[in-house]
Amino acid sequence: MLEAIVAVYADWGIGANGTQSVVVRADRRHFREVTGGAAVLVGRKTLADFPGGRPLKNRKNIILSRTCGPVEGAVVARSAEEALAAAGEGERTFVIGGESVYRALFPHLDRVFVTKLRCRPHSDAFFPDLDADPAWRIAEAGEEQEEDGIAYRFLTYVRLRADGAPAPAPGNRTRMPL
Ligand SMILES: NC(=O)c1ccc[n+]([C@@H]2O[C@H](COP(=O)([O-])OP(=O)(O)OC[C@H]3O[C@@H](n4cnc5c(N)ncnc54)[C@H](OP(=O)(O)O)[C@@H]3O)[C@@H](O)[C@H]2O)c1
Repeated sequence: MLEAIVAVYADWGIGANGTQSVVVRADRRHFREVTGGAAVLVGRKTLADFPGGRPLKNRKNIILSRTCGPVEGAVVARSAEEALAAAGEGERTFVIGGESVYRALFPHLDRVFVTKLRCRPHSDAFFPDLDADPAWRIAEAGEEQEEDGIAYRFLTYVRLRADGAPAPAPGNRTRMPL
C-alpha cells in the first residue's frame, strides 16, 4: 500500500513559489506523527524548502531527482519506479510532495491523509481534487478545528478498488520517537 500526506487549501492548492503559503502548527505535528518511522518520497524542490534543506529525521528519506548528487542521510531515486523500489516491500511509505511527485506517484496511491485548510491563498502547485474523483472516498473525517483564525480538519481518503470496496487499512507499523 502506498500512502500520501498533504495539506490543501480550499481549491486543492498546496503552495506557491516553492513553499506552503499558509501553515498551521497542528498540521506540522500531525505530519510528524503520521510519517514518523516510515519511508517518505519527496521531490528535490520540496526538500530544498525543509529546514536547512536537509532530509527529515526519524524517517527514511527517498529524494526524487534526475539532477542532484548524493545527499547525506537520504537515498536519491531517478524515477518514480526507482523510488518505490528503494522504499522496499512491507515498509510503510508516504509520498510527501511536491506537486510533480504527487502526480508521478498518484496512480499508485491507495490512501491519502489530507489536511484541509479553509482558506484560499494564491497557489501555483496543486494536489488532484479527490472530491471530484469518483475513484476516491472519505474514510475518516475529523472535527473542524481552528488555529490562529484558520479552520482546518484532518481527513483520510481511500481509493475504491474495482469491486467498490475501500483499499484495506495498513497493518501496524514501527513507531519511532519524533
Ligand atoms: N501542502 C503540502 O502538503 C505540500 C507538500 C509538499 C510540497 N508542497 C509544495 O509543492 C510545491 C513544490 O512542488 P514542485 O512540483 O514544484 O516540486 P517537487 O515535486 O518538490 O520537486 C520537483 C523535482 O523533483 C524531481 N522529480 C519529480 N518527479 C520526478 C520523477 N518522476 N523522477 C525523478 N525526479 C522527479 C525533479 O528534480 P530534478 O529537477 O532535480 O530532476 C523535479 O524538478 C511547493 O510549493 C511546496 O511548498 C506542498
